[in-house]
Amino acid sequence: MPLEPAIESGDRSHTLAPVESVAQISSMLLDTDPTLDPALAEAARTAAAEGVVLLTNDGTLPLGERSVAVFGRVQIDWFAVGYGSGGDVKVPYVWNLLAGLRDAGVRVDAELATHYSTWSAANRPVFADSWGQWPHHFPEMPLDESVVAAAASRADTAVVAIGRAAGEARDSILEAGSYYLTDDERMLLDTVTSHFARTVVVVDAGNVMDLSWVADYRDRIGAVLFAWQGGMEGARAVASVLAGESSPSGKLTDTIALSYEDYPSAPNFGHLDVNVYAEDVFVGYRYFETFAPDRVLFPFGHGLAYTNFELSTEADADAGTLRLEVVVTNTGDRAGKEVVQVYTGAPDGALGKPARHLAAFAKTRLLAPGESDTVRLEVHVDDLASYDDGGETGHRNAWVLEAGEYPVFVGADVRSAAEVAAFEVPETQVVREATEVAAPAHAFERLTLARAADGSAVAAREPVPTRTVSRAERVLGSLPAELPQTGDRGIDLAHVASGTASLDDFVAQLSDEELSLLARGDVTMDSPLGAPGNAGVLAGVSESLRAKGVPPVTTTDGPSGIRLSAYASLLPSGTALASTWNVPLIEELAALHSQEMLRKGSDVLLSPGMNIHRDPLCGRNFEYFSEDPVVTGRIAAAVVRGVQSTGLSACPKHFAANNQETNRTRNDSRVSERALREIYLRGFEICVREAAPRTIMTSYNQINGVWSHYHHDLATVILREEWGYEGVVITDWWIEDAVDPDFPALEDNAYRVRAQVDVLMPGGVKTDAAPQAYADTTILDSLAREDGLTRGELQRTARNVLGLAIALKPVVDARTLEG
Ligand code: BGC
Repeated sequence: MPLEPAIESGDRSHTLAPVESVAQISSMLLDTDPTLDPALAEAARTAAAEGVVLLTNDGTLPLGERSVAVFGRVQIDWFAVGYGSGGDVKVPYVWNLLAGLRDAGVRVDAELATHYSTWSAANRPVFADSWGQWPHHFPEMPLDESVVAAAASRADTAVVAIGRAAGEARDSILEAGSYYLTDDERMLLDTVTSHFARTVVVVDAGNVMDLSWVADYRDRIGAVLFAWQGGMEGARAVASVLAGESSPSGKLTDTIALSYEDYPSAPNFGHLDVNVYAEDVFVGYRYFETFAPDRVLFPFGHGLAYTNFELSTEADADAGTLRLEVVVTNTGDRAGKEVVQVYTGAPDGALGKPARHLAAFAKTRLLAPGESDTVRLEVHVDDLASYDDGGETGHRNAWVLEAGEYPVFVGADVRSAAEVAAFEVPETQVVREATEVAAPAHAFERLTLARAADGSAVAAREPVPTRTVSRAERVLGSLPAELPQTGDRGIDLAHVASGTASLDDFVAQLSDEELSLLARGDVTMDSPLGAPGNAGVLAGVSESLRAKGVPPVTTTDGPSGIRLSAYASLLPSGTALASTWNVPLIEELAALHSQEMLRKGSDVLLSPGMNIHRDPLCGRNFEYFSEDPVVTGRIAAAVVRGVQSTGLSACPKHFAANNQETNRTRNDSRVSERALREIYLRGFEICVREAAPRTIMTSYNQINGVWSHYHHDLATVILREEWGYEGVVITDWWIEDAVDPDFPALEDNAYRVRAQVDVLMPGGVKTDAAPQAYADTTILDSLAREDGLTRGELQRTARNVLGLAIALKPVVDARTLEG
């Protein structure tokens, strides 16, 4: 197996926490074994292959027996993942495209390959030392036209690989080498396409980049394939698709627009302090299909196969549910899988509604030529409701189905899906009453739908409804009761786990000091209480807690692999996974990954990343899934179910509206309650309701003026009270200091605990200068004050954390015993 060096994506400086005396934990032993689980690697390869999106193909692909000349240094210096915590995995090998093509039996021109390999070995990519300063692309090898001409005399097809990366603290930028092609890349395409009759372009990138050149080179490029970043096996998977060993079945989870300026978020992305989400619910295809269908290069859901499919649908409606039976027949001459996508429309009414919404989807099994598969899907009329945040329908803060016809479309992308049925809603109805959460404090105007005289859609503006509820009253009205403290009664957490004592009896024993320790992690990353290289440890962070049976709970990044000092698998990035549209496959992969977590000593995987692709420049889009919340929620739920199948915990992140990296800890995402609920929170809601994650991570940014790690409306009202979440909420790493504006006796961690953001991670102050000296007094100080944090609130947080500890305990204990 070719061992290519993993792309070095930089490291953050870890400071070891002071070592205290801890019981020996087997996972503390440094695991130096580079052997990975072959079943996991194979599942990763299958997923990476299914995530490859074939954008255009005039028959040039698959390559089959043709001889191929491979251009672009990315064939060697392959971007397997994006940068930052989401990709920083110590992976023992990463396939590159050249090796992958050879492995797939493709006849690769050796002379050109040697030329690139030699040059690349002498010109290694340069990485700056500092966090967030990673290259968006690697400069291309200078190429003499005679080399191209000579290659064209030996090989009949050219494959050009173009690569991009972005990441944490590293948004893409509107420059050549990031969103745009460089002059060198254009020249490469010009030269190659002028010498080769057949050219295939492979885009190896985590983010959508400008593809307007696909139209410029229309007749000269035979096929374009978006490979995403598929992890250690990704290039091999792409090669198997190119060769025709695997059939492409990936579908876009984002719209690819003609130009960046066409995206509705474009005027309001990248600002340092405030980003106004003026496009409101019209994100991605919801905008394009409503207002600007002619500004789309490739629609949401698009992706070709090496064969063709015919869909025939039967619809059967009863009591608010539409049952669809879609027979998919492979009418071509190669095997393939198809994704059946169901969209709904909506009538005009008091609320402006997007022309199409994804309502359901499912992927067929692999169909041989002539074979059919029947896919069954359901659409519930209640799921078509819109959220009325301003009372326009007469029902403020409710999910409302406005009267009229809701057409249902079935097809293989958002644009071509054809109407198959319709729901008739005779009268406007409230589907679900809710309560105002996280509404904007600042007025701004948002996009809405109006109609011209001829009925065509017109972009109009309306004032966004602003906050009406008093948070202070809301908090004070629901303060939890305090358990009288009993002191140590000898109750161990194991007694709670086995049902011989109640959790409340256990919590009542805890001192204020112990309670406050449960509300923070073990001070630094790479805690000595967990496997080396961990992201942080929570729960059993002191001797006294461990003496009561509270285990230390180890967290690791996530999402693309387990980030530790030990070797681990690098899996396909979020967008690659989502582009498979294959929920069972992702769940299976995540379940195998969970086995690796068990072996490596990770209890909580800081995954999935599930923020919405609001804008193609967001640096962490590679970790996230889609511009659509249904795809996001369902894929995230699959990851969570898989990871938690062994009893461990996933940790969906970043809750919520973390849609840009630039100045991410200061930025305020100003967004209507409607857009929050229909777009930015919807994926989390689906994930929580379908998969019950045990842990959730807040985001760095503010939402309507409140940092999400202080956001009571988000972490308590909507997450727990409305959605029934029962797990722990942890911060993203470190928090911004602030005094609670409603309760000045609560600052920093006290303010956070009041919101029910339970655990500060990794637990120390932001600078690692002197972690030993860290002592948080904000919780205990506030507790001591009449008008401060209540003990009941701190005990509530302790209950949340202990609930996680109990769930994980059997696994953690077994691991300790094995050691
Ligand atoms: C990232 C999180 C990550 C955490 C721990 C933060 O900077 O935003 O996604 O899980 O670090 O590494």
